[in-house]
Amino acid sequence: RKEKMSIFIEKYKDRVLALPKDESWMMIDLRNYQGFWYSHGVWNNLNANFSVEAIMALQDDFQAQPTDVFLASHAKSGTTWLKALAFAIMNRTKFKLGNCSSLVHPLRNISPHDCVPFIETESFLNNPSYANGLMATHISYTSLPESIISSGCPIVYICRNPKDVFVSSWHFMNKLKDNSSDPMELENVFDLFIKGNAPNGPLWDHVVGYRKASLERPDKVLFLKYEEIQKDANNEVKKLAEFIGYPFTKEEEAAGEIEEVIKLCSFEKLREASKANKDGDETSNAISDEIYFRKGKVGDSVNYLTTEMIQILDKITKKKYDGLDISF
Ligand code: A3P
Repeated sequence: RKEKMSIFIEKYKDRVLALPKDESWMMIDLRNYQGFWYSHGVWNNLNANFSVEAIMALQDDFQAQPTDVFLASHAKSGTTWLKALAFAIMNRTKFKLGNCSSLVHPLRNISPHDCVPFIETESFLNNPSYANGLMATHISYTSLPESIISSGCPIVYICRNPKDVFVSSWHFMNKLKDNSSDPMELENVFDLFIKGNAPNGPLWDHVVGYRKASLERPDKVLFLKYEEIQKDANNEVKKLAEFIGYPFTKEEEAAGEIEEVIKLCSFEKLREASKANKDGDETSNAISDEIYFRKGKVGDSVNYLTTEMIQILDKITKKKYDGLDISF
């Protein structure tokens, strides 16, 4: 893996080394770049190698097209779900929904993360053309490559209740960790999370950046909530399709196409697909995409957090989201 370290890491090495460092979130060495914490170098065994070097490379060179669509989120907010929904919507002519098609839909075979790449990764920078106009990112709004804003392409942000984001992140990082050390205790990472020392953190500032952008440029930035999609998927999927320029026609609606998208992208279906397509290569470092599907519920965090933790998280959320009309 080390041999694959890219020219980007080499190119931005000195700038990265000069960035502020703090106590790390679990095993990840984070650096603060433009107010947010990001991993650097090749740090994990996920297929996507997120890095601050990649953000710098994108800021220097990335050219978005007006027809591109960007999906943005803080990690563990419902990114995988949003990727699947947007991909199914945008490709519904090519890949028919439901069982009427002779073609197997890609989402039954490959992970949403393989259908929609994250841009701040080594793999994207090495092969940007495979994105096909639909890309995702965990970069903060203020650090997005300038051309994404200036080209006026649609940006869809997904936000989730911070308590569920925290608990989901904790589970995820423990699964990512190799087995050589003990699992991280929730209490031990709580203080780091509320300080913002988590990948793409502080969570609240990440959300506020995109929320403000959605209020200032509502035609360019759509702000979705994980909880709303759970509550009224039909309405949210319709809204998403319209916003990214692929509205459902009356005929499609009547034919139940929206429901087909929802079904195809349901937690159960995507999890099933991820299990079926587990990487069978024993020598590979890649982690199965099954890791992205845990419970997929709203409010599961109450089963893990103490009353005190809930109070602290709620207090921060109330203060940070004040006046921004974000409630859960
Ligand atoms: P939980 O850990 O609470 O179950 P991300 O995709 O941003 O990494 O977020 C992962 C969270 O979204 C996990 O939450 C995961 O289970 C949930 N999730 C993934 N796919 C989903 C889907 N199709 N529907 C609802 N939730 C989903």
